[in-house]
Amino acid sequence: MRRISPLFLVVLVLGFFFATYNLLTMIIHYKTSSEEWDDPLLMPRNLNEFGGSKSKYHVALTATDAPYSQWQCRIMYYWYKKVRDMPGSEMGKFTRILHSGKPDSLMEEIPTFVVDPLPDGLDRGYVVLNRPWAFVQWLEKATIDEGYILMAEPDHIFVNPLPNLAHGKNPAGFPFFYIKPSDHETIIRKYYPEEKGPLMNIDPIGNSPVIIRKSELEKISPTWMNISLRMKDDPATDQAFGWVLEMYAYAVASALHDVRHILREDFMLQPPWDVEIGKKFILHYTYGCDYNLKGELTYGKIGEWRFDKRSHLSGPPPRNLSLPPPGVPESVVRLVQMVNEATANIPNWDTL
Ligand SMILES: *[C@@H]1O[C@H](CO)[C@@H](O)[C@H](O)[C@H]1NC(C)=O
Ligand SMILES: *[C@@H]1O[C@H](CO)[C@@H](O)[C@H](O)[C@H]1NC(C)=O
Repeated sequence: MRRISPLFLVVLVLGFFFATYNLLTMIIHYKTSSEEWDDPLLMPRNLNEFGGSKSKYHVALTATDAPYSQWQCRIMYYWYKKVRDMPGSEMGKFTRILHSGKPDSLMEEIPTFVVDPLPDGLDRGYVVLNRPWAFVQWLEKATIDEGYILMAEPDHIFVNPLPNLAHGKNPAGFPFFYIKPSDHETIIRKYYPEEKGPLMNIDPIGNSPVIIRKSELEKISPTWMNISLRMKDDPATDQAFGWVLEMYAYAVASALHDVRHILREDFMLQPPWDVEIGKKFILHYTYGCDYNLKGELTYGKIGEWRFDKRSHLSGPPPRNLSLPPPGVPESVVRLVQMVNEATANIPNWDTL
């Protein structure tokens, strides 16, 4: 039997590697030269490893002139100013988009752009329906220097410097466990007909938090507004979606424009359910935090110690709130500390 020459083997192995290498570089070249990742499923999870996107994003906060919205905005803006220039942040400027139609008492304190509310009665008491209309007006009328927009809400606190999580034309969003388009097939299909594609194309997100290219948001916003009004107009949809209707409207509108979001669990943490802050970016205090004095969560039952934004519907919480009892998770402790730091340092906290 002829022995195979070792040199042949070496050449064979090298040749194999070379061919594989060539193929790989061709694929990589093809992928990167197509400039944008169109399929989020192919996208690397941690985009910062790939250099991320170096473009700054504008922080856009939709708000009303109600005292309840105002005190949250003041805390939100305080923490924006603190983290904006930290290493790792890619924050640009900040705008509070005030959709009450007229200036309020915070015009000097927070950069604000006043837009019109929906015509009387159109929101039927569901104030957040004004958000898409607010974005449509702001994008059309304001001068925005940054190429990207972060859509934020008053009850967001920046706990870590937030990089631009979007990648090219693919925005980044936070996956909400309760947004499940496939559970509402009949309803969703009224707005996202079958020829548009599978329901899987609709991301489990709302409009906030989302970091998105300005040009993409300009396309999506009018559709988002149209869909949210149509959804609110349809009793079956209104009943099925309730207070998350406008989130579904954004998810459907972006899918109609073939925009897929990179889903980032680390975008946001929500006490009391998320107990650690870790490397997450936005603390969202939408849920009440109720604990007994042993530090046990008593959710749904008023706690001996509590922090709930809804306890302060008509005016700001007092300065120097008491810290939670021992045993309460880090996320809740940090929330109260951050609220206290902001209220201690904002001039005229309780008189404005
Ligand atoms: C939404 O868009 C459709 C089609 O362009 C139009 O017929 C409809 O009147 C719009 N609805 C609203 C509420 O703006
Ligand atoms: C805040 O309240 C604590 C008691 O809860 C008190 O010991 C402390 O002096 C207060 N700090 C300020 C700045 O008022």
